[in-house]
Amino acid sequence: MTTRRDFIKTTLTTMAAAASPLALAKPETFRQPFQVPRLNAGQRQGRDVYFDLTVQSGTSRILPNKNTHTWGINQNFLGTTLKAKKGDRVHIKVKNTLTDATTLHWHGMKLPARMDGGPHQPIPSGKNWLSEYEIIQPASTLWYHSHQMHETGPQVYQGLAGLFILEDKHVQSLPLPSEYGVDDIPVILQDRDFNHDGSFRYISSMHDRMAGKQGSVMLVNGVYKPLLKAHKSLIRLRILNGSNARIYHLKFNDQRDFSVIASDGGLLRQPIQTNMVRIAPAERVEIVVDVSDGTMPMLVNHPPEMTSGMGMMRRMMGNREQAQALFQIDARKVRPTTTTIPKTLANIPVPNLSQVSATRTMELEMQMGPQMMRGGGMTINGKSMDIQRIDTVVQANSSEVWRIKNTSMLAHPFHIHNVQFQVLERSKTPLQPHEHGFKDTVLVYPNETVTLYIQFPKFRDAKVPYMYHCHILEHEDAGMMGQFTVV
Ligand code: C2O
Ligand code: CU
Ligand code: CU
Repeated sequence: MTTRRDFIKTTLTTMAAAASPLALAKPETFRQPFQVPRLNAGQRQGRDVYFDLTVQSGTSRILPNKNTHTWGINQNFLGTTLKAKKGDRVHIKVKNTLTDATTLHWHGMKLPARMDGGPHQPIPSGKNWLSEYEIIQPASTLWYHSHQMHETGPQVYQGLAGLFILEDKHVQSLPLPSEYGVDDIPVILQDRDFNHDGSFRYISSMHDRMAGKQGSVMLVNGVYKPLLKAHKSLIRLRILNGSNARIYHLKFNDQRDFSVIASDGGLLRQPIQTNMVRIAPAERVEIVVDVSDGTMPMLVNHPPEMTSGMGMMRRMMGNREQAQALFQIDARKVRPTTTTIPKTLANIPVPNLSQVSATRTMELEMQMGPQMMRGGGMTINGKSMDIQRIDTVVQANSSEVWRIKNTSMLAHPFHIHNVQFQVLERSKTPLQPHEHGFKDTVLVYPNETVTLYIQFPKFRDAKVPYMYHCHILEHEDAGMMGQFTVV
């Protein structure tokens, strides 16, 4: 007989207790029910949609026999999934019931700077913030999370993150799996460590600070090793890497192929067949997988290969890892779906390089030495984030080419607010399938330069800046972030 005690094992040597995080045994079976975050479509009055969000703290049962203190939005851990469509005017009231100040940032959204929810829009404890804007971009899987200055890492780790799904008429006309929670499944990937009292264990070593916090317990929508009961034979997974620092290389355990259909900014031109997808922090990728064979495939995360800079660095720092199954799909009772994935998905224009008005280089660096020990030394073009300083000024409605150059020893996922860019070139590594679509975050390997084509939307504000930064949240908090205004 298996008991809960077999499911979870604590390393209880007195010596190790203080120093080591709680270690979970590896259960071979997936027994927790798969959690789908509640859908929140707001209150609609024509094109106006009203959302009421409460940032709250609470207790969650993540481990079988311990409570974890967590934060969430309209629930105790993580946020409900917001949904709106192109052309809507959203009015989002955010109430902060925490004792700390926080913000909510709409990651991937094109919107006026003061509505962005970045470090310039903090919500003090007990206060409300109203964010109102029109949805001007195509159907896509965006997300929202805390962006509190110097506190983004701990606040997202505590749970302040959720999905924001955008729809439009075009995507609704395509025969893609689109029934939320039935054949259109949100998959928020996060990794956590736990203390012996069940609380989340955040930064506890120099390695955590340098490489970013990576936990050893993999959660899917806040659940450890869940089992997803499939109802249809074709399943769409909207995968968000909501981890602070971990890069995932995802495969099914039986190596089956799947179709990549969308990136951060929406649908690709056409589905791309593959059996592996890499997803860095803050990236989203939508895949469609056929489970009509009625088996029980597992989605598995593989550590980066020995050959990549990240893999080498991790091993140098003594972080040895094995492949880990994240969740399992039970497809034994699927009903055949009649839908097939369309051959063409979206019309993505080819970048017009003759119209580029500026070319800029953003150099990502990690200064070794004393600053690093204090949690600083993370810079872009030699400067750490200063909320008083505007680093870059761009023109509204213009197109620019940005060269993101990584001269550090670690890979960095570079993110730009208010835009969906296109990847023109990677200097060292091949483009991932989802890098053929619109992106707001792109992974840059050590000694690599990734060239981006960016069209800035119409919004202008000479005073309030947007951010660009590394989306390893500990790097962002330590200063690998800059500010730009659009005029
Ligand atoms: Cu996902 Cu500046 O954030
Ligand atoms: Cu963002
Ligand atoms: Cu970084």
